[in-house]
Amino acid sequence: MPPKVILVGPMGAGKSTVGQRLAHRLGVTFRDTDADIAHLAGKSVQDIFVEDGESAFRAMERDAVASAISDHDGILSLGGGAILDPATREHLDGQTVVFLNVGLADAVKRVGLGHGRPLLVGNVRATIKKLLDERAPIYNAVATYVVETDGRDTGSVVAEIEALL
Ligand code: S3P
Repeated sequence: MPPKVILVGPMGAGKSTVGQRLAHRLGVTFRDTDADIAHLAGKSVQDIFVEDGESAFRAMERDAVASAISDHDGILSLGGGAILDPATREHLDGQTVVFLNVGLADAVKRVGLGHGRPLLVGNVRATIKKLLDERAPIYNAVATYVVETDGRDTGSVVAEIEALL
């Protein structure tokens, strides 16, 4: 059976970069729920937020995550806010979930000006801080493993995850 690993964590934790590299190392496919949603909607996540609103995005995300978890073997990356949904948290129960943790300074560095990230309007640092504070307990609660990413390169994070599996 190919390993099935679900990556969760905030924007700027490196879910896509780590997930793609990990999938390559393990010889499995990588899937990203934001990409699934954009593909289904025929527009970017940013445009969905602007044109349809966050709650429309969250409803699409709930469905996209549910089908990705049931269909996909390999590495699956969830958008940073997916774990806010109680139904999604239930789907995560019993799965191998890796929380890629990141502190404020590194998260801010990695998202830069926040282009293409619809929640990052106004003061990027303050918004990320608020999201990290609110969501950290939820990421920890759904995680099978917590992997710290602060100050680390992709290769070392991927190697740690491989060793945990
Ligand atoms: C969001 C994170 C984004 C994307 C959307 C909302 C969030 O995904 O789903 O902009 O609520 O934190 P990434 O974590 O992949 O950037």
